Amino acid sequence: MKVLQIASECTPIIKTGGLADVVGSLPKALLAYGVEAKVALPLYEEIGDKFGHQLKAVSSGSINFQGNEHPYSVFKGVLAEGDIEVYLFQNDEFLSKGEIYYSEDTPHRQKQSTRRFAFFSRAVVDFFTNISDWKPDVMHCHDWHAGIVPHLVKNEYKQDTKTIFTIHNLAMQGVSDLDILSILGHDRRIPDHDIDWDAEDGNIVLLLQGILAADIINTVSPSYAYEITTPQFGEGLDKVLQKNKHKLFGIINGLDYEVWDPKTDEFVFHQYELRGEEVGDIREKKFRNKVDLLAEMAVRTDEDLSQLPMMGIVSRLTRQKGFQLLEEIKSYLLEQKDFTLMVLGTGDDDIERWLNTWEQESPYIIFENKFDEGLAHQIYAASDMFLIPSKFEPCGLTQMISMKYGAIPIVSAVGGLKDTVIPNVNGYVFEEFTGTALLETMKQAVHEYHENKIWDKLVHKALQADFSWNVSAKQYYLLYQKLVGQL
Ligand code: ADP
Ligand code: GLC
Repeated sequence: MKVLQIASECTPIIKTGGLADVVGSLPKALLAYGVEAKVALPLYEEIGDKFGHQLKAVSSGSINFQGNEHPYSVFKGVLAEGDIEVYLFQNDEFLSKGEIYYSEDTPHRQKQSTRRFAFFSRAVVDFFTNISDWKPDVMHCHDWHAGIVPHLVKNEYKQDTKTIFTIHNLAMQGVSDLDILSILGHDRRIPDHDIDWDAEDGNIVLLLQGILAADIINTVSPSYAYEITTPQFGEGLDKVLQKNKHKLFGIINGLDYEVWDPKTDEFVFHQYELRGEEVGDIREKKFRNKVDLLAEMAVRTDEDLSQLPMMGIVSRLTRQKGFQLLEEIKSYLLEQKDFTLMVLGTGDDDIERWLNTWEQESPYIIFENKFDEGLAHQIYAASDMFLIPSKFEPCGLTQMISMKYGAIPIVSAVGGLKDTVIPNVNGYVFEEFTGTALLETMKQAVHEYHENKIWDKLVHKALQADFSWNVSAKQYYLLYQKLVGQL
């Protein structure tokens, strides 16, 4: 079976978050089920700068876009030591110029952003319909960036290729003005139920198009699959999702343990692994990782911070990730001397400002305001606990990664966090989304950190948890089979 993954990011080529981890690792995991998977990505400037010399020009084509013919070029790269091919689509005018995501702070930028991924989607469908010899049985579309693909395949290119649409984050929807329809070559005189219904309120939502037109939709954890059918988490689309429940599935993400394993991780200072029942060696190695990481940081206190537990955060700095709860308990955070808080992240201006100020005010708070893959790995390895107090979390990878590194996650009871962390067994889960509930849980964790027996047991359980792709890749494989009528 041939499956094309269509997405905006993919590790190790280009990454801003968990979507890249998933798109970079699922195709590899699918190989075990005999699925021939390839990936389609935009060729952003940054990819050209980093990997240009490794890419091979394979083809070119043109699409009608905005009323004119516009060219696109296709380059090929490989993943997983050559086992997975990646097709990179290039066009200077609409697709490739600029950063990976435009900040959508003005209507103009928002427009550019939806145009960009509409161009990408159409070029991908065009190439695999009209040019490529390799024809996918299934197009697997990820998030709003590829949301219009199912519509294009079915209604504009009139192909039988099956489509699956995966929602990694319902909050980002790709809202476009109606012009996008003519830009994509859609003839409004021909009735199209889904498009016409979507257009009634004066815009086209690319994510909604994915939900409506795809043969199957899924999201990245069973709990989030349920949550998005409720008004609280539905982002205005709960009713539509409820109506489409018959084709909505929840599949938890897997982790690529070739990337995330402290035993082989080349970024960490001291590698480690669980041997038998004993976690003493792990404690020791994690301690040494903490000492070395702290030595790299500009620590502003004479106190030896390595003697304190370290709470890590590696995250996009957005309200999704619950930083407003930290703001709620900031007086405690600024006064406490019981743990070090180590934050790595970039994102919303106000959250960056909070963290910069807190770092100035407390020597127990360290903030690295950047995206840094290597440092992320070092923080997982050095941390004793990991903080993920999300307001909503479709799946979340950092709680799974932190467990693999023996850092105990402290999470809110939502989405994939709820599905992966077992309260007081391999992590801490707080129910109410309030600063108070978070604070109580943090205090409990710090207290139990000093109870060696309890802590060793938690660490042991966390290290034993298996979030590899085995089970989830099979679930995707079964969905693909269902689509192509082999089930
Ligand atoms: P999301 O996709 O919502 O951002 P996930 O938990 O699914 O959250 O995945 C986040 C991924 O991005 C993880 O691999 C995490 O290590 C990585 N990450 C987030 N912020 C940074 C950063 N500033 N530097 C390096 N890696 C980061
Ligand atoms: C999204 C979600 C995150 C999920 C990731 C990969 O960015 O916010 O929860 O883990 O996609 O599916």
